[in-house]
Amino acid sequence: MVRAVVATAWGGAEVIEITDVPSRPPGLGEVVVAVRATAVSPFDVKRAGGLMNRAPSLLPLRLGNEMAGVISAAGPEAVSFEARPLAVGDAVLGHWLEGAQADELTVPANTLLHKPPQLSFHKAAALLGSGTTAFHALEAVGVGEGDRVLLHGASGAVGGMVAQLARSRGARVIGTASRSRHERLRAAGITPVAHGEGLAERVRALAPDGVTAAVDAAGTDEALTVSLELVPDSQRIVTMVNFSAAWAAGAKAIGPGEETERIRPAARSGLVRHAATGGLRVDVAMTFPLAEAASAYALQARGSAGGKILLLP
Ligand SMILES: NC(=O)c1ccc[n+]([C@@H]2O[C@H](COP(=O)([O-])OP(=O)(O)OC[C@H]3O[C@@H](n4cnc5c(N)ncnc54)[C@H](OP(=O)(O)O)[C@@H]3O)[C@@H](O)[C@H]2O)c1
Repeated sequence: MVRAVVATAWGGAEVIEITDVPSRPPGLGEVVVAVRATAVSPFDVKRAGGLMNRAPSLLPLRLGNEMAGVISAAGPEAVSFEARPLAVGDAVLGHWLEGAQADELTVPANTLLHKPPQLSFHKAAALLGSGTTAFHALEAVGVGEGDRVLLHGASGAVGGMVAQLARSRGARVIGTASRSRHERLRAAGITPVAHGEGLAERVRALAPDGVTAAVDAAGTDEALTVSLELVPDSQRIVTMVNFSAAWAAGAKAIGPGEETERIRPAARSGLVRHAATGGLRVDVAMTFPLAEAASAYALQARGSAGGKILLLP
């Protein structure tokens, strides 16, 4: 049997349980992965809360969509995302997976990438969801050399990636975070600024020449309002949370759709390479044993963990 995290009803941490589900052998082009680390993201909290789909037939709902682990069984013609054969013993990582919060997962091999030995299982499990979203956000508003980017949520899992990728493109990053995280941001080359009342004035003082683009990984009304006030071109503002308000204001939003399916997979291999060679830092805020999944969901729901939260089977 496989131990898997499920939501038994629509709700918060109180509906999160571990259940036993039958193990499934790999079919054609599939592999079984012994999961070493699996992430708990805001998306999982929203799914468990029924914000994506509340159909009763979905319950109990398997959760989790990214993980890293080792192949324990391989079906015929098991070939990775990079079109390389996968065999028992190979270390892999993947995202956009169904039910990844489990100690074992049977999935199509072509959803997985080979994990370089230099990248730990923890960092591998935390990399792709946040990294590909960050890459997409920067593509959406065309961040490049000389840009001054206002980043809302710079201390979060996605924000941490946005900041690094923006800086590697030659941009300056002014990032919002709770005050207790400002020193950490400064050490990462980000100009920190506290969110909350007076944000626009504080950013003006820190960037007297103005900001040229904004990325919202926080999702507050303040993030969008201040971005619209400070960025001259609203098409250079992107949110990953506040969709309808952004569209109504002429700003951009990135979420499910054709653009996401094109841009994010194309970013996977580069992110893995950069993280493995130390060119991209992956911040893991906290790890929990799989059995304590409910505590991990409670922490994620508070929205201020300071990086990725992992479950360890
Ligand atoms: N559209 C997509 O494709 C997509 C993909 C991935 C993620 N997302 C969404 O992007 C968001 C961020 O994800 P994440 O994984 O980075 O979450 P996270 O790690 O929990 O980060 C949350 C961030 O929000 C900040 N924050 C919390 N309360 C705030 C407030 N009142 N005002 C301003 N900032 C505040 C936090 O800063 P402090 O803790 O320092 O206060 C932190 O930087 C989530 O809503 C997630 O669902 C969307």
